[in-house]
Amino acid sequence: MSAQNLPGQPHLAYRGKELFAEEVCLSDLAKEHGTPLFVYSKGSMLAALAAYQRGFSGRDVQICYAMKANPALGVIQVFAQAGCGFDIVSAGDMDRVLAAGGQAKSIIFSGVGKTRAEMRRALEAGIGCFNVESEAELEVLNEVALTLGTQAPISLRVNPNVDPKTHPYISTGLKGSKFGIAHERVVPTYQRAAKLAGLRIVGIDCHIGSQITQEGPYLDAVDRMLDLVQAIEGEGIPIHHIDFGGGLGIDYNGDTPPSAEHLWKNLLTKLDARGFGKRKLMIEPGRSLVGNAGVCLTEVLYLKPGPQKNFCIIDAAMNDLPRPAMYQAFHQIVPLNSREAELTTWDVVGPVCESGDWIGHDRMLAVEQGDLLAVLSAGAYCMSMASNYNSRGRAPEILVEGKNAHLIRQRETIADQIQKESLVNT
Ligand code: LLP
Repeated sequence: MSAQNLPGQPHLAYRGKELFAEEVCLSDLAKEHGTPLFVYSKGSMLAALAAYQRGFSGRDVQICYAMKANPALGVIQVFAQAGCGFDIVSAGDMDRVLAAGGQAKSIIFSGVGKTRAEMRRALEAGIGCFNVESEAELEVLNEVALTLGTQAPISLRVNPNVDPKTHPYISTGLKGSKFGIAHERVVPTYQRAAKLAGLRIVGIDCHIGSQITQEGPYLDAVDRMLDLVQAIEGEGIPIHHIDFGGGLGIDYNGDTPPSAEHLWKNLLTKLDARGFGKRKLMIEPGRSLVGNAGVCLTEVLYLKPGPQKNFCIIDAAMNDLPRPAMYQAFHQIVPLNSREAELTTWDVVGPVCESGDWIGHDRMLAVEQGDLLAVLSAGAYCMSMASNYNSRGRAPEILVEGKNAHLIRQRETIADQIQKESLVNT
């Protein structure tokens, strides 16, 4: 039987009328585990990683998976076994990496609001680098390290003031953003760091935004970073590694980001031309490693045609898939069983009591009550941002590997949800 691949989704294909992820029939999974249900393809994650590895071949690079995109233990395990490090933003993230078999020394710790307790725990565990985001944080980290009688390995996160040309909520490298240390303060802050006995300077880093689909902003950021490295080293402070963050976009709806391989070949040409080709590099990709590896399976509960809008009410909602409500994001929605029927325009919405609870506007679908659908590109920033709004338990997650489907997270029950709550004794 010939397989028909979906654009931008190399590990999803219709075989006859049925949608498969790798060798697994998705409607079988939906029937066995119920919906909503997240399904991830391991092959797709490793293929996305391989594109970076090809781009970097022969170079000294550490790829640190930005696990905020999808922190499931079973997903972290895939990247740990493939030799990746991890970009974390909390002590909880660190605990997940360690629980999944990742190495503390492969961890870099980003984020504007690290607490003293988190710094202490990360120092005790022996993480690889703190990406420090402010002058105030630098002083606190120094104090915490001195109290423990150790030195914290640090890099300063630079705000390079580059426009990544993406959604404003996920632009992080512009002057007005809360992230990183302003360009003009970078050299004096390195000079200060060099005088603090509790710190050991190891690198420099930046991250300009997310879902970036053009090469230009990266090229600009590289130039600004290299100018800074020259200025800092000119002050006698060696910089061992340069971390360019994450941010590469994926194809949600005909988007055409450069491939990781192509992007990095071009960026490396620029590094070579400026004499930085041998420098140790780090990157922090999240979405581009997992985004198109995941789908969310959902059932059509009711069809509600109306005079102005037709509503297709599904059992997945904004608590499972928050990106449309938060960023007006587009996710493709396709049937698990394609049917030859007339297409109608539907607003695909969830059961949550908010008008913002929509998953797709004006979608052409041939659907009936009880049909199963897949919301695509749901591997990144979906489960990781899922909530219990409306007392909805979070969905289970499955990792597909060839013919095998591994349950990597069970459906959350109401008992799970209320176990830390108590009634007041009256
Ligand atoms: N490094 C740092 C310091 C970050 O803040 C981020 C993402 C990454 C790496 C990974 O970026 P990526 O390769 O995934 O683009 N919830 C939003 C995305 C927020 C991104 C936050 N930072 C969304 O659903 O679009």
